[in-house]
Amino acid sequence: MSRFRDLALKEMGLTPLWVPRQAAAALPEVSHAVLPLAEVLPVPAALVAAPLAQRRQSVPHLPLHLLTHDALRDAVAACTQCGLCDSRRQTVFGSGPLPVPWMFVGDGPGEGDEDEGRPFTGVPGRLLDNMLAELDLRRGRDVYVSNAVKCRTPGTGRPEASSVLACRDWLMREIALVQPRLIVALGAVAAQLLLDTDAPVGSLRGQVHRRVFDGRAVDIVVTWHPAYVLRKLSEKARSWDDLCLARELLSGTSVAQTLPV
Ligand code: URA
Ligand code: SF4
Repeated sequence: MSRFRDLALKEMGLTPLWVPRQAAAALPEVSHAVLPLAEVLPVPAALVAAPLAQRRQSVPHLPLHLLTHDALRDAVAACTQCGLCDSRRQTVFGSGPLPVPWMFVGDGPGEGDEDEGRPFTGVPGRLLDNMLAELDLRRGRDVYVSNAVKCRTPGTGRPEASSVLACRDWLMREIALVQPRLIVALGAVAAQLLLDTDAPVGSLRGQVHRRVFDGRAVDIVVTWHPAYVLRKLSEKARSWDDLCLARELLSGTSVAQTLPV
């Protein structure tokens, strides 16, 4: 471990750090394909019920499914589909190589992320980077990181259901462009959106879910949001278990084959 990382983790109270378990034998039991396959991710019922009065239209120049990554970023930057466009200084789009097997999805950008125009720039992002480093993964090189919602939510920072719904299509197109084999859902907002459920993270983590995006099967592993882990350090071991599960999936052979459509 580098001295810098050691110090950073110590500062966050996260040492002793994630101790990799001995390969698959120590992984939690996995139940595969928990959820039925759905060709098109349905809109979660909880979100459909959300108030949409403030939803406004902003139509990209091309149909969504034709947008390249750059065009999608531009369309998001001009988006006024929910009230968050009024308070944002800039949108925060996902970042990382394309295509790439690993994708992480958080809930939405914070203030610092908005300043920098990149997701997860703050302390939770440092924790995420450190956990990735333990898996020999680096942001910008090996993983694509994004959020369910692309504009900062003032106040508590947790996006409202109406914004998650309004922003959903952007994420769906982003997933189609990233072509991940596996998505790690960081926290309840991403997990519930991607899995079409209102179940809590505690009941979704520790197993493998599978969904179909744009005709491709993608495994989804749910884990605690890094900001939650920082508040509740007793959960860090479970968080690490989830990432080990994700790593096992990607190093195995049975993950995310392209399904016939
Ligand atoms: N920053 C992000 O980009 N996403 C989160 O979910 C939290 C902080
Ligand atoms: Fe558009 Fe998403 Fe920003 Fe709402 S949060 S204005 S839907 S980009």
